[in-house]
Amino acid sequence: MKKIGLIVGSLRRESYNRKLALEFMALVPDGYQAELIEISDLPVYNEDFDHGDPPQAVVDFRQKLSESEAFVFVTPEYNRSVPSGLKNAIDVGSRPPGESKWSQKPAAIISASPGAYGAFGANHHLRQSLVFLDMPTVQQPEAYLGGIDQAWEDDGTISQRTKKLLQKVMDALIQLIEKQ
Ligand SMILES: Cc1cc2nc3c(=O)[nH]c(=O)nc-3n(C[C@H](O)[C@H](O)[C@H](O)COP(=O)(O)O)c2cc1C
Repeated sequence: MKKIGLIVGSLRRESYNRKLALEFMALVPDGYQAELIEISDLPVYNEDFDHGDPPQAVVDFRQKLSESEAFVFVTPEYNRSVPSGLKNAIDVGSRPPGESKWSQKPAAIISASPGAYGAFGANHHLRQSLVFLDMPTVQQPEAYLGGIDQAWEDDGTISQRTKKLLQKVMDALIQLIEKQ
């Protein structure tokens, strides 16, 4: 069973991005397992962690990353960039040098905002890091979901349009994983 780790850029209880991540997980095909990897307990990264005993939360997070064969980042945009908690998680997973847990693992990025631009800025700032981390990343479809606060019907079901896009991202990610 191949594991796909999902990392949500928002720590907010009622986060739209977290809800979106759960919708995405429900689309995982046979032979795969999706898991949310939490980032809220991570301390702010400090290089001293890797010149001694790193905090337990860092050890546990890195272990979880090792168990995943691919990652999906589902994130809002903060001030036209990646929320600091998500950037911190990326930094924690990238160290110590030569032991990055991200290296060569396929990834997809879904960004969402109540605003019109669908967190495009965060999506592309995140892509910049993933290039450096050597992660083959789904290029198409691009997933910038604007108006995300309107994406669920009154009964809690996600709109068909949004679900179709999530399905296309899932299909592209699986294809990318299978190519490795
Ligand atoms: C510090 C901060 C900065 C924000 N900056 C942006 C931004 O640059 N672009 C944007 O579309 N929304 C921005 N927002 C609004 C978020 O898109 C909105 O709060 C969204 O619901 C957060 O995602 P979540 O529902 O998954 O928590 C910002 C919100 C916060 C708290």
